[in-house]
Amino acid sequence: VDPSLSARIGALLRDVPDFPQPGILFKDIAPLLADADGFAATVTALGPTEPVDLVAGIEARGFVLAGALAHELGCGLVPVRKAGKLPPPTVRRSYDLEYGSAEIEVPVGVLEGKRVLVVDDVLATGGTLRASVELLAEAGATVVELAVILEIAALGGRAALADLPPLRALVTA
Ligand code: PRP
Repeated sequence: VDPSLSARIGALLRDVPDFPQPGILFKDIAPLLADADGFAATVTALGPTEPVDLVAGIEARGFVLAGALAHELGCGLVPVRKAGKLPPPTVRRSYDLEYGSAEIEVPVGVLEGKRVLVVDDVLATGGTLRASVELLAEAGATVVELAVILEIAALGGRAALADLPPLRALVTA
């Protein structure tokens, strides 16, 4: 990623201490989304390096990015949702978060044989991305690449995902 773009995007992220729990430094992408040029440049930079059929967006902030990117690429979108929101048939998986645990779900029937780029706003421990990739594969897709706006290097997510398809982060903090 071009260092000046990375710096521009990084400058539009906001640190929020002790949210949603004491001790957690929350990375807020709202200022970036609200900046027309910054948002557009971010979406383009998240794009894949090889052709894909679908962009998968991880709930909730990944939806915003995936929707804009899928439109830009002219490809489809699939949501990776918190469990209990999608109608059947779905496949589901539990995983650990930096704070707490979670369960996600993807639809069955639209992913078979598709090449997928997975996008999200932040890579922290990597638990969400790993569960997403495994779930998309279980639903029949081939994940070819992962892209996030921000990687929080201290949490070791990149190393935790070393066996997965290539991961690109626009900003590393
Ligand atoms: C945040 C973030 C990623 C995930 C990263 O989502 O948007 O999806 O955590 O954490 P990890 O790398 O440790 O798994 P959150 O669970 O806060 O969901 P939200 O976007 O719906 O608020």
